[in-house]
Amino acid sequence: MRATPHSKVLTVAFRIAPSILSADFARLGEEVRNVLSAGADVVHFEVMDNHYVPNLTFGPMICEAVKPHAIKDGKPAPIDVHLMVSPVDRIVPDFAKAGADIISFHPEASGHVDRTLGLIRECGCKAGLVFNPGTPLHYLDHVLDKLHLILIMSVNPGFGGQKFIPEALNKIKAVRARIAAHQAAGGQEIWLEVDGGVKTDNIRAIAQAGADTFVAGSAIFGQKDYTAVINAMRQELARG
Ligand code: DX5
Repeated sequence: MRATPHSKVLTVAFRIAPSILSADFARLGEEVRNVLSAGADVVHFEVMDNHYVPNLTFGPMICEAVKPHAIKDGKPAPIDVHLMVSPVDRIVPDFAKAGADIISFHPEASGHVDRTLGLIRECGCKAGLVFNPGTPLHYLDHVLDKLHLILIMSVNPGFGGQKFIPEALNKIKAVRARIAAHQAAGGQEIWLEVDGGVKTDNIRAIAQAGADTFVAGSAIFGQKDYTAVINAMRQELARG
């Protein structure tokens, strides 16, 4: 539940998106099945190229391998591909073919934000823009109508297990206000996702700032009982 500026209470669908960067890579398919049956909603898939960010992770082949395991309640669960690569456009069709449902990228890494958003949509995927802690929000100015997701990084991208940067809460509030104005003017639904240092003890404050989709890596995969930690997160969110 979230109170709106007009004090109308809104029922908000909160989504938990475990970041497979913290999963056991030797059992990736099993980990994806386990975390979805433990109550997660979305699989957050981190793509790092050791160029745009100082780490190297997965390519389209791993996305293709994980896809058959991304099942929740008998139905496909969205694979949310976060591209931390530069350039961007070259790899987009490969991830679309590999089963990505959502593809997001960093505006600085593309250089042609509108073109890359168009390419992602032409490939049949939902498109998202990602904002590093120091990246200004003006990249949203002329493309809100093309977005399904806005991802606010609350850590500098490249590694799991980092501490949440509190200034991200102000950025989330600013983006929530822009999405609300866009929707009030008849615009489409846009997910507001947060990534980096999300834990059971800060998820409520992040939701109160305006987020509705929560990426969590070490907070979930670092625990033995995925169901217990996801339930604890949902209880915090349910407190409103
Ligand atoms: C960092 C990644 C994050 C990271 C989150 O660049 O984009 O998704 O895996 O991990 P935690 O939740 O441990 O901060």
